[in-house]
Amino acid sequence: MTDPTQTNKHADEESLRMVSAQPIAGEPVSDEELRPHVLDGFIGQPRLKAQLQLFLDAARKREVPPDHILLAGPPGLGKTTLAMIVANELGVPIRVTSGPAIQHAGDLASILSSLDAGEVLFIDEIHRLPRAAEELLYIAMEDFRVDVMVGKGPGASSIPLTLPRFTVIGATTREGMLPSPLRARFGFTAHLDFYPHEELEKLVTRSASVLGLPLDDGSAHELAVRSRGTPRIANRLLRRVRDWAVVHDLASVGPADVREALALYQIDTEGLDRLDIAVLDAIVRSFDGGPVGLNNLAAMVGEESETVETVCEPYLVREGFLVRTPKGRVATRKAWEHLGLEPRERADGDQGTVGKLF
Ligand SMILES: Nc1ncnc2c1ncn2[C@@H]1O[C@H](COP(=O)(O)OP(=O)(O)O)[C@@H](O)[C@H]1O
Ligand SMILES: [Mg+2]
Repeated sequence: MTDPTQTNKHADEESLRMVSAQPIAGEPVSDEELRPHVLDGFIGQPRLKAQLQLFLDAARKREVPPDHILLAGPPGLGKTTLAMIVANELGVPIRVTSGPAIQHAGDLASILSSLDAGEVLFIDEIHRLPRAAEELLYIAMEDFRVDVMVGKGPGASSIPLTLPRFTVIGATTREGMLPSPLRARFGFTAHLDFYPHEELEKLVTRSASVLGLPLDDGSAHELAVRSRGTPRIANRLLRRVRDWAVVHDLASVGPADVREALALYQIDTEGLDRLDIAVLDAIVRSFDGGPVGLNNLAAMVGEESETVETVCEPYLVREGFLVRTPKGRVATRKAWEHLGLEPRERADGDQGTVGKLF
């Protein structure tokens, strides 16, 4: 088990970064205005949208609440947004809770027993439900029933309570952590994927118009390429660009403004920030491209190993800047080139790991 204090520490660490995919303090509320409310307004993910549209149309036509839906994917890609859209499209209320908010099975039982017919129950971070709550949830999802415990001790008994039909929408960043019986209760699982630049450009354009910020040609592109495939990051960077436009009294924002504003926050053309660059720089300059063990690397950049591993590496690996090998972390040719360096040949004629890998 991971130590929860550690997780919080990393969450804190993460929340300080402009390029974090997690919401940062004070942000969720102001982000509301940028959330699309109908499926048509949800940008990108065309296949998923088509599937969901069919799924919702069928439920509406049959006049029954749809099957339970699982939304899986990394943070910031639109899981919560989609859950809200589904409820809105169905014209039903949505009740919101999360795995960590439910401490005891009883907490979940009381939510379930108060649901109205057709209502959507959104359970964020569903992989973090306590075990007993998970078991209660299987039954509720399958049989629309909860067993309510009456009394305490040896005289306690359980009374089955029938629930009206409702729809659970679960969201998870860790689908693999969901026990398969729970996963099997979902009639539809949607996997959200990182967004290509073109889609993020559309998203930035839409958000800028919601914020009333005129963008010149090419500005949306400059924002999109720095957003790590993640709508939440795109919207956050856009807000910082808006600050820039306000302070500089700009009537509209040009690509050079975007570059300058985001350079101020030390976010480079690939969406890498100061820490990402420090990591790559350490591997390349101090360890000759690697392989280097995680602990040495972390010490070199003055961060906790876990921070480097959970906060920086996933994006660096995904974008092909870094590979994890059994011997340690290795900077790829792309990393060297991004730092403006030639992948170096070793003095002994051995090309080193970079040469062997590529
Ligand atoms: N496909 C999309 N189209 C438009 N905006 C989106 C899309 N996906 C995410 N967003 C925006 O990004 C922000 C983060 O999305 P959210 O649904 O909270 O992500 P998650 O729940 O997966 O962490 C939302 O405020 C929303 O405005
Ligand atoms: Mg969410």
